[in-house]
Amino acid sequence: MTLNVAILGAGQAGSRHIDGFEAIEDVRITAVADADADLARREANRCGATPFEDWRDALDGSPTPDAVVVALPHHLHAETACRAAACGLHVLMEKPMGSTLAEGRRIEEACRTAGVVLMICFVHRFRDEAIQAKAWIEAGHIGVPVNCLETIASPRGSHLGSWINSPDLSGGGVLLYTGVHAMDRLLWLVDSPLREVHASTRTLTAASRVEEAVAALLTFDNDAMATFSVSGPSYPAGETGWWSEIYGTEGVIRIRSRQSVEIKGNGLDQRIEVGDTAAREGEHYNFKRQAEAFVQAIRNGQEAPIPGRAGLAVLEACQRIYDRGDYGPQLALQ
Ligand SMILES: NC(=O)c1ccc[n+]([C@@H]2O[C@H](COP(=O)([O-])OP(=O)(O)OC[C@H]3O[C@@H](n4cnc5c(N)ncnc54)[C@H](O)[C@@H]3O)[C@@H](O)[C@H]2O)c1
Repeated sequence: MTLNVAILGAGQAGSRHIDGFEAIEDVRITAVADADADLARREANRCGATPFEDWRDALDGSPTPDAVVVALPHHLHAETACRAAACGLHVLMEKPMGSTLAEGRRIEEACRTAGVVLMICFVHRFRDEAIQAKAWIEAGHIGVPVNCLETIASPRGSHLGSWINSPDLSGGGVLLYTGVHAMDRLLWLVDSPLREVHASTRTLTAASRVEEAVAALLTFDNDAMATFSVSGPSYPAGETGWWSEIYGTEGVIRIRSRQSVEIKGNGLDQRIEVGDTAAREGEHYNFKRQAEAFVQAIRNGQEAPIPGRAGLAVLEACQRIYDRGDYGPQLALQ
């Protein structure tokens, strides 16, 4: 049976979701909602959907959607997801799950109560390099993770929505917009709850009202530790860079996102360049894989592969960083 999907928010992320869902069989995008009416119309036209200016109207459009993708500014995540769940619609939720921890918990509870699938868009888990690293760790090829380095840097220029620089609309700065991806990858690969968090946050430019840099030292319940660094300058600073190093008891894995993944240790010495999939299927091929996983969970009546608790774990980690960081009092998540 065809699954009807409504895309709420047709900006940068929403447009990638449209590409991802369009590429799947037996799925139809029936509605695209965006406060920018021209954008809603343009994006709806390219996938044969009905455009809406108000996301609420898209929830009871005709045909009624079975699922929604929430790709709106952070302050709208909780209201949108909770209303969709109350309508019995499955929810694919952009990161961060909410702009506060309390919002994240409300979303998780609303979806659980309604019995709908909730999946969090940590879309980078669907990239080749991340899948390979996780498989090597699960197969025991580096023993037990002990010391990790997680570094992500992504410029926050005029190519991004201006709302990300407003604490009221975004809930925080570079940590919530970009750093959440790196925190999720770390928690996923180490596979242990956070124990201790030591952190500082800074702005890089005088006028910024949200943090643009984060440095944290983390320890996990399994005794692993990590150095975690996020930078989001608002001056031109070149390409996004993201790398991870996981030193285990028997080997090390190094990930250069969108470039390569390599392992040394425990009988394995291998480096894989990962550009082929992007060259073949497009740079954002991971959005299609994410959409497939979401649809499969709905069709099979299963929990999503990245469920609400993964989103909550990341929000809790952010909360602890803000609590310890210089901007804690202003930006602490509730
Ligand atoms: N997973 C990823 O790789 C990725 C990448 C970028 C953004 N994101 C996430 O996606 C979400 C959206 O971010 P973005 O960068 O696409 O932002 P964006 O500014 O490009 O798009 C947001 C859209 O929401 C619309 N909008 C704002 N208020 C609205 C309202 N009340 N009703 C309807 N539409 C409204 C805006 O007009 C805009 O087009 C955020 O949660 C962000 O963190 C995820």
